[in-house]
Amino acid sequence: MFERLEPIVPDPILSLMAAYRADPDPHKVDLGIGVYRDERGETPVLAAVRRAEQALYVRETTKTYVGPAGNAAFNEALERLVLGDQHEARVTARVRTVQAPGGCGALRLGAELIRAASPGSVVHVSTPTWANHAPLLAGSGLKLEPYPYFDPATGGVRFAAMIGALERLPAGAVVLLHASCHNPTGADLSQGQWQELLELVKRRALLPFIDMAYQGLGDGLEADAYGIRLFAAELPEVLCAVSCSKNFGLYRERTGALHVIGASPAAAEATFSQLVKIARGIWSMPPDHGAAIVHGILADAELRRLWMDEVATMRERIGGLRLEVVTQLKAHCPQRDFGFIAAQRGMFSFFGITGAQVRELRERHHVYMTDDSRMNIAGLRRENLAYFVQATAQVLAG
Ligand code: LMR
Repeated sequence: MFERLEPIVPDPILSLMAAYRADPDPHKVDLGIGVYRDERGETPVLAAVRRAEQALYVRETTKTYVGPAGNAAFNEALERLVLGDQHEARVTARVRTVQAPGGCGALRLGAELIRAASPGSVVHVSTPTWANHAPLLAGSGLKLEPYPYFDPATGGVRFAAMIGALERLPAGAVVLLHASCHNPTGADLSQGQWQELLELVKRRALLPFIDMAYQGLGDGLEADAYGIRLFAAELPEVLCAVSCSKNFGLYRERTGALHVIGASPAAAEATFSQLVKIARGIWSMPPDHGAAIVHGILADAELRRLWMDEVATMRERIGGLRLEVVTQLKAHCPQRDFGFIAAQRGMFSFFGITGAQVRELRERHHVYMTDDSRMNIAGLRRENLAYFVQATAQVLAG
């Protein structure tokens, strides 16, 4: 059966991760895979996570199944974190949550739900979008179509073009949006743009599917949820895939959830039952460890404060690096304006150099970013920043 299968080239992010690991050069700089790194270049277990994990170790008495919808206490805590305690959709019982193995699991769950409700649906994705969105969504049988999003000339959003394209979509079309910290570009919608988009989505009866993988790493826990909260309050239906990989540093624990906002409590309940069936048919029950940790943190005032401080530290470090790299690039590469990096949010920026220049950075200077020039800003640190900037200056000088 498998004799004729051709080997597959891994996706650009994963192949870069492998190439970086295999590079013995001591000066190598990893701006590839999107994991947060601290000033020592490490991705440590957060202190709040460690403490919640220790408490869990003492408290946990069984490893029996939790159930296909996952840990109900985690689901509720995450709803509160994402939507806020008193959100209209929560108060009117229009929201349901199903735990999933990471944000990827949540995206797949949402895609399967869309397919069950409306086979042949088209999901409209930003140009560009995260490399794994296509396999995750198209793998469910949905079609993907691009809408204009990033403007390489300004490093911002081509909002008029985006609105123009979405305005032409038929009712029921699905629009995938990034809540904040757009991956791969770092270019986010402003609050005013979310409001304008809301009116369009309402008028055209589109279904927003929001991917939230970086809550807290952009402008703050509340600010990064602005679009989701607005849409969930004002629209009859919204899907929201949430990942706890980055903001809780739980990457390998595969912790996430899908929130679904329904037109009525009854519609939300029916959708929930469909989601439970879908989850049961794919992974049956989600892993509990990460979810139990997140719940342990969010339910404990002291751990929650500690975690919020740690999220702020990550956010501020990334923000500081953005400013610093722009200053240094300005000094060494005055012919180019990299100011857009400071205006962007989250871990990623599109550096805006050519594929050949990306490869030269990698081959001659051991600086790793994906071929489309996405760089993980959190991979920089005081120690390697000057090296990175000098390497860039050499590459740009040709
Ligand atoms: C990334 O974009 O690098 C991260 O979200 C990690 C991944 O799985 O691709």
